[in-house]
Amino acid sequence: MTLFEMSGQVLERAVEKLSLTSLVLATSVFTLTVGYLGKVMFKHQHTGHAKHPPRIPSSVPFLGHAVAFGRSPIAFLEQAYEKYGPVVSFTMLGKTFTYLLGSDAAALMFNSKNEDLNAEDVYARLTTPVFGKGVAYDVPNPLFLEQKKMLKTGLNIAHFKKHVEIIEEETHEYFKRWGRSGERNLFEALSELIILTASRCLHGPEIRSMLDERVAQLYADLDGGFTHAAWLLPGWLPLPSFRRRDQAHVEIKKIFYKVIKKRREAQEKDDDMLQTLVDATYKDGRPLSDDEIAGMLIGLLLAGQHTSSTTSAWMGFFLARDRALQRRCCNEQKTICGEDLPPLDYDQLKDLSLLDRCLKETLRLRPPIMTMMRMAKTPQTVGEYTIPPGHQVCVSPTVNHRLHDTWSDRLEFNPDRYLNDNPAAGEKFAYIPFGAGRHRCIGENFAYVQIKTIWSTLLRLFDFELVDGRFPAVNYTTMIHTPDNPIIRYTLRNTQTQQH
Ligand code: HEM
Repeated sequence: MTLFEMSGQVLERAVEKLSLTSLVLATSVFTLTVGYLGKVMFKHQHTGHAKHPPRIPSSVPFLGHAVAFGRSPIAFLEQAYEKYGPVVSFTMLGKTFTYLLGSDAAALMFNSKNEDLNAEDVYARLTTPVFGKGVAYDVPNPLFLEQKKMLKTGLNIAHFKKHVEIIEEETHEYFKRWGRSGERNLFEALSELIILTASRCLHGPEIRSMLDERVAQLYADLDGGFTHAAWLLPGWLPLPSFRRRDQAHVEIKKIFYKVIKKRREAQEKDDDMLQTLVDATYKDGRPLSDDEIAGMLIGLLLAGQHTSSTTSAWMGFFLARDRALQRRCCNEQKTICGEDLPPLDYDQLKDLSLLDRCLKETLRLRPPIMTMMRMAKTPQTVGEYTIPPGHQVCVSPTVNHRLHDTWSDRLEFNPDRYLNDNPAAGEKFAYIPFGAGRHRCIGENFAYVQIKTIWSTLLRLFDFELVDGRFPAVNYTTMIHTPDNPIIRYTLRNTQTQQH
């Protein structure tokens, strides 16, 4: 091992042990160079005459508000909204972030062109090493839009009908290990289950059948690319996690290439996502290459992994906290599906409207993506302000979903709020867990099918409650805000249903 690699390992171990706050501190010490300061000072001279958004003052050079934001980002942004209004700028790690808070301000991001507010500039350094070249943020946006369209073709109702059966079966199989009663880590279990169900539904039976411990480790190593360290530290550093991510990328793709080759050679066509991609062509008639398909398969799996597993886990805790709501959801299933609860089907799943609203409300209070980000490439006008190029422009679903100008009883988990007239209905971007505009999520319907099937099945199997009434706090140190210490108590409802 070279000295260079050893120092990388030391740095990475330090980063892994640190909280976000100290991570931010460590990173800033590492990156703070005279040259960098010069660049920042140069930028500040070029402010022109336009009226810039109000800036939250900071006396801490370079670090700016990183510590306060890292400790509690939502409280920080809510206070900023109260004090400065819907458009506000502040500095963290030498970068200026401008948040567009509330529906009206957020419209700037969602109606913008990618040339003006650019996604690749902020996301590619995280995604390209994981998904690979030639897909997503590594290609010009019009090409990515074509790729999204191909993926959307594969996410259709005929496929969802098969997915319900698959997900129900995988859920039964997975939760057999939980036994009759106990206390377990719900988030960990749902993360494992979701990778199994997504692999089978989105990659197909061949790839799912290869998902053993070794492949699961490869996914975990790939996923290790989505960390604060990968976002904050330079990509050329010899960090062990970067090396593991890059090796896993090569290994996973080798597996996918073999499966794609077999599919291309098969006499009979399957009817699933992989087949959709094998048969897809760009507008100019060019088919997807094996490498593009493999990159898109990785993207499909990982785009839904943390988002869906975190959402499912939070939903479980909201249901566990409210036993009466749990009972109502169980009764809804009996009314819609029949007293003897036969295997789920897609049409019935759609009719489970209370469960739907529970998911919708979970996504309001705990949207997994707390910030969408773009780089301003051109001056952007919002209200009386002009955001200059170089600002990282952000919209936070979490903040929009709980603004008190918009939502009544804003912090209450109340799935029935959607039955009544709610003030947010008139505001286009008040509820945006899946984003909006050209970068909008294509996985919403699949996520609903997946999470609703898992929870319908789990509610048939178990009765859930919080452990000693403890509802998990939000863990702000991870990129997606996961539940802290996510242990749940469960009791099997009856042995009959578990075998079905
Ligand atoms: C609860 C589950 C999910 C949530 C809350 C969610 C949320 C989001 C959000 C907020 C965006 C917009 C990002 C931005 O504008 O910067 C997005 C984009 C996207 N999501 Fe999801 N997602 C979920 C599941 C999925 C799944 C299951 C898939 C794939 C099957 C998926 C694929 C994508 C893709 C391809 C994009 C487009 C990115 C772009 O155009 O820049 N998502 N998602």
